[in-house]
Order: sequence, then C-alpha cells, then structure tokens
Amino acid sequence: MSDVAIRVEGLGKQYRIGRDRTRARYKTLREQMMRAAGAPFRVIRSAFTRGNGEGRAEESIWALKDVSFEVKRGEVLGVIGRNGAGKSTLLKILSRITEPTEGFAEVHGRVGSLLEVGTGFHPELSGRENIYLNGAILGMRRGEIDRKFDEMVAFAEVEKFIDTPVKHYSSGMYLRLAFAVAAHLQPEILLVDEVLAVGDAEFQKKCLGKMQDVAQEGRTVLFVSHNLAAVQSLCSRGIVLRNGSVWMNAGVRDAVAGYLRTMGSVADLPLWERKDRTGKGLVRLTSVDIATGGTDGSNALIAGWPAEFVFHLTSACTGVACTFTIYDERGQPVANFNSARRSSNDTVNPDSDTALICTLEENLLLPGDYRINVAISCEGELQDHVEGAATFSVSEGLVHGRPVSTNSRFGCVTLPHRWLLPRS
Ligand SMILES: Nc1ncnc2c1ncn2[C@@H]1O[C@H](COP(=O)(O)OP(=O)(O)OP(=O)(O)O)[C@@H](O)[C@H]1O
Ligand SMILES: [Mg+2]
Repeated sequence: MSDVAIRVEGLGKQYRIGRDRTRARYKTLREQMMRAAGAPFRVIRSAFTRGNGEGRAEESIWALKDVSFEVKRGEVLGVIGRNGAGKSTLLKILSRITEPTEGFAEVHGRVGSLLEVGTGFHPELSGRENIYLNGAILGMRRGEIDRKFDEMVAFAEVEKFIDTPVKHYSSGMYLRLAFAVAAHLQPEILLVDEVLAVGDAEFQKKCLGKMQDVAQEGRTVLFVSHNLAAVQSLCSRGIVLRNGSVWMNAGVRDAVAGYLRTMGSVADLPLWERKDRTGKGLVRLTSVDIATGGTDGSNALIAGWPAEFVFHLTSACTGVACTFTIYDERGQPVANFNSARRSSNDTVNPDSDTALICTLEENLLLPGDYRINVAISCEGELQDHVEGAATFSVSEGLVHGRPVSTNSRFGCVTLPHRWLLPRS
C-alpha cells in the first residue's frame, strides 16, 4: 500500500461571484452520503459541468489555482494563510463537499472532517441519529459506532440533548458534537478547519488534545487555523496558501515564519488597496496610525510611554465599533481591544465621525515587532476585517521607572510592580 494519504495536483477552483452559497451548502449531506466509504477516491471536475459558461473572467474568482502537494500517511499538516487564501476551499474539495474546476485530488482512506459548522449533520435528526449516520458514511459497522458512542457523547457534553434534533442545539453544542464525531469515529484522515475559532477555551484545549491523540495514533491530519501557536505545536509540516496558490511548503517552523513575513509585506501595501479582507464592505478601514504620544506616526512605540491607535474609515455609520488584536512576532495574540465594551472613560470625538482612536496611557508591551488584526462593524454587522492591517515596533523604555526586559523569550508584556527586598 502506498504511503501517500493525499495527493493534489494542479488543483484549481473557480467561483462565480454572487453565486448562491446556501444552495451549495444543502448539497453537502447528499454528496457526503454518496461518498464511497473507505475506497480511495479522486475528485476531478466532471465532464458534465465543463464548459457551461461558469466563471466568465469578469464575474469569477479563482479561490485555488494550480495547487499541488502530497501528504504522507500519518503526517500532520498545518494549512495557514490569510482570510480568503483558499484554505477552506481546499478542505472542502478534499472532503468532497465541492468539486474542483481543474486538476485533481486523490484521497486514500476514510475521511472525517470538521469544516464550517453545519456541514455533515442533518438538522432534523437527533444527535444520536447524526452520529450513526456519520458513522455509516465513514463505512463503520453499527457495533463499532456503539462502542464509541458514549465516549463521543461525553466528549461533546451533550448527554441531555442526545435525542433532540440538532437544529435546536446551540452553536457551541453543535460544534462540540461535530468535533467529537469527526475525531472519534476513527477516520484515517482528519480534516479540521478553524475549530479553535469557536467554543470556549476549555473545549479548544480538549480539541487540541484529541487532535494530538489522533496524530499520535499515526493517522493523517490536515489542520487549518489562524492560531499559529496551535499549528506549531500540532503539526510537523506547514503549507502557506497565498491568493489560492501554495506559496510555501516546508517544516512547520519555517512555514509559520514565512507566513509572518508575508503579513509584514502586506502591510507595505496601502490598506485601502488590499483585497484580502472580509465583511459586508459598506464601511472600510482606510488606514491605521500608530504613534507614541508626542511623536509623529511612524508606527514606533516605546515601552512605558503612551500609545495611540487611530483607525480611519471610508464613511460614518451608526453603531460603529472597532475591535483589534495585537499579535507578537510568533503570531501569539497578546491583547484585544473592543470599542463596544464600553467604559465610563470613553468619550465622543466632536471633530470626526470617521475615525476611532484608542489610547493606552502606558504601553506595557516589551521591545519587539507586533502586528494587528482589525474588525469594523456597524450595529453588530461585520463590515471589514483585515489581518495584519498594520505593524509596529516597540523600543526600550521605562515602565514605572524600571527598565523593561529585552529578552522576548520571557514574554512580551510587563506588569508594573515593586519589590520588597531583604536588608543586606
Ligand atoms: N461559495 C463561494 N462562492 C463564491 N466565492 C467563494 C465561495 N467560497 C469561497 N469563496 C471565495 O474564495 C476565496 C477563498 O475562500 P476560502 O473560504 O477558501 O478562504 P480561507 O482561506 O478559508 O479564508 P478564512 O481564513 O477567512 O477562512 C475567497 O475569495 C472567498 O470569498
Ligand atoms: Mg476558511
């Protein structure tokens, strides 16, 4: 038997813009049921749909283009890339939810997948029925599913609701059960997309632990996540997708470092020209100015000094809110700010209706390079989300009169403190 679990060659996927996404989603379950469980399968664009005029250049985009790679049996591969890079599209093709426009993907083994919440479960069926249905799709015998059943239900913490149709589940319950099913039904290949974006911290830890177990049992895992620390701890190899193509395929450390470099180079493009953004787009972020009080822009901060983050928008909107997260050089989130979480110290700017300004009285970040992801919403509706919207550096300074550490191995923030020292 070949030691290749997945082989992808010249894979491309073209989407027609404005195409009804709901219809595509409803196809999911039927297509999954038609999956030839266990047998190696090959997805290739069928002759039937070829040349039907889908995707004329002006109204279509290539979500994936000329993607080729191999995954060995037992390998744990991280797939990283910015919003819209094509990660979910790749996983959807591998799990046969969607068909490629060109090229092919060969998958050898039973696939368990946890893609966007909603795929794989039938809303009218209970949790119990969905477990058996998914097991059957994976080609498992009833006895095998029986043996795993209690473990899955306990993992998902849905004992009380196991005979309730899953359409009544909260999104957290749904996700927990979907993950439990994907990971426990012993797929030979596990495809997981952004499981860490939802659910609470404890459940995320459980998911990571379970994926680690699956990987240690020698099964193949493809893991898509924006959490680079999780990717680094779980995966041995990483693929960086950029605008639908494989930009890097390397050891996970190099892949993560390469990806972070691309985040930096993107920040060199003016923000308003960037296309790698999501949201409705009625209001867009045009620029971000980051400065230490008393200095000009230049995106340079000093430890212990005040810091100001100014977000400029294309137009005003009611109920505007800005959320941004600071990430360190290794891609670890450091701090999150959300203008919708109000404090009595917040004020209204009489001079502008298109700028939001966040002021830090004292910057507690240690020297190093940082970047921010920014989301703008109007009345709770996401308008614009840009990863790596700006980068900035912090240089040495004093926090509460004390020089800060410059060794980034010991963390990236300092906390104001004082010592009570012994007499000497
Ligand atoms: N059903 C669809 N119809 C039209 N365009 C689509 C569809 N699905 C995805 N796209 C587009 O294809 C591109 C790749 O999307 P994809 O969801 O694969 O990105 P991603 O890397 O998973 O991004 P994210 O990090 O935001 O999850 C994007 O430009 C997206 O808007
Ligand atoms: Mg995605």
